Amino acid sequence: MQIVSTIKEVKHIVKQWKIEGQTLGFVPTMGYLHEGHGSLITAARQENSKVVVSIFINPMQFGPTEDYDSYPNDLEKDRNVCESLGADLIFHPAPEEMYPKDFFTYVDMSVLTEELCGLNRPGHFRGVCTVVNKMFNIIQPDHAYFGQKDAQQLAVIKQMVKDLNMNIEVIGCPIVREEDGLAKSSRNTYLSAIERKAALILSKTIFMGENKVKEGETDAKKLIAAMKANIEAEPMAKIEYVKAVDGLTMKQTTRIKPQTLIAIAVYIGKTRLIDNFIAH
Ligand code: PAJ
Repeated sequence: MQIVSTIKEVKHIVKQWKIEGQTLGFVPTMGYLHEGHGSLITAARQENSKVVVSIFINPMQFGPTEDYDSYPNDLEKDRNVCESLGADLIFHPAPEEMYPKDFFTYVDMSVLTEELCGLNRPGHFRGVCTVVNKMFNIIQPDHAYFGQKDAQQLAVIKQMVKDLNMNIEVIGCPIVREEDGLAKSSRNTYLSAIERKAALILSKTIFMGENKVKEGETDAKKLIAAMKANIEAEPMAKIEYVKAVDGLTMKQTTRIKPQTLIAIAVYIGKTRLIDNFIAH
């Protein structure tokens, strides 16, 4: 497995692979890899002859008061994870490599970014779309793997690929959870021991909501009220949003039907956590 930090070098390697007729699977990440990322790498390994993982903490997708400066990293551990899961290449550029001083082009999306995380993190999806677009151009994957954990991000990337006619298949992978239910996240490391316990309110609320939908609840207002009440019973939790939206457009909906996305964002202390489920 190679670790490469320049765009020129990755392009050179990819060019050779294309000549050889290899299929390319790509897993974009910000590093500090856990089993959630691992599941994407494993899926990519099964479906492609070459697997590229990017590790890049993308400054453009963080707001001015967000955690860019404290975002965790451990390249040595990440290298071992990628190697053990059979990745062929890690692309790990410096911020100046991706955004030189004379960088002026951005990818912006309307509609899908106007709710949920997009509403609460202005500029976030502009940063995500721009960096993922750049990565796609550099790596030219056949398949790109994203987690359902970031459901809005997955929908946005699928829309970008469709709108901009990219020859890439975007594949969504299920949420990987800790044994007690908490969705795995690099940000879980911010939680103190008592916050970690309190954070269980997210997955508990997701499972509760999922059960209600299974039992036949179709009224989004009622479902959301029940989920909000559940979260509010946890004193350390502060709700950012609990919403039901159309699974493709991310627009709010009043009726729960198959493919409706029910998504939550909750602060536990200073740590912002997200979780979701899709109605079937
Ligand atoms: P990051 O948060 O590192 O996540 C990288 C990928 O791992 C995303 O597709 C995310 O949805 C997936 N992932 C994270 N936790 C997961 C879990 N518990 N189960 C399944 N998949 C999980 O998302 C980003 O980085 C960035 O926005 C990026 C796309 C790399 C652009 O900078």
